[in-house]
Amino acid sequence: MKAMIIYDSFYGNTEKIAEAIGHAGSQDEIEIVHVRHMKLEQLKGLKLLILGSPTQGGRPTQVMQEFLDRVPESIVNGIQVATFDTRFTTKLVAIFGYASEKIAATMEGKGYKLIAPPEAFFIKGKKGPLKDGELERATSWGNKVMNAYRLHNDTK
Ligand SMILES: Cc1cc2nc3c(=O)[nH]c(=O)nc-3n(C[C@H](O)[C@H](O)[C@H](O)COP(=O)(O)O)c2cc1C
Repeated sequence: MKAMIIYDSFYGNTEKIAEAIGHAGSQDEIEIVHVRHMKLEQLKGLKLLILGSPTQGGRPTQVMQEFLDRVPESIVNGIQVATFDTRFTTKLVAIFGYASEKIAATMEGKGYKLIAPPEAFFIKGKKGPLKDGELERATSWGNKVMNAYRLHNDTK
């Protein structure tokens, strides 16, 4: 399998989560790329794309959104997708929505299939740090996504 984790991060928390998710696979299986360094050609040959962003104002960062807008529509048997975000623990902001859901909606709108529901990882305060246990939870979520991918594709 060739998987890629594409993330954005302002204060480094989402980057740490991306790296922890990456521990779910070997280096040949999963590549981790900051969205600013991502070129569309790198999507070629990918099987699984994991997209993550901090939630800012109820959505992904502008840089992530601009990248998503440039992603071409899915072709048949195209890349499968999973999304995650980092966010406040407070539910007071729930009304605005969250980055992972919006990334998922954008990708589904382009015809990509989600392999797992959008996932959230929590930070303390505005800039972090991550809540205790979130890195371990990220690796475990990465394993779930990789297993869902394998199961789905082996049984076809
Ligand atoms: C300008 C700004 C807006 C934010 N808006 C939200 C929000 O709407 N909902 C939420 O849960 N967290 C919000 N946050 C908290 C961010 O999600 C948090 O800073 C982020 O998870 C940190 O990730 P990073 O270290 O990778 O940048 C906001 C943070 C900033 C700086």
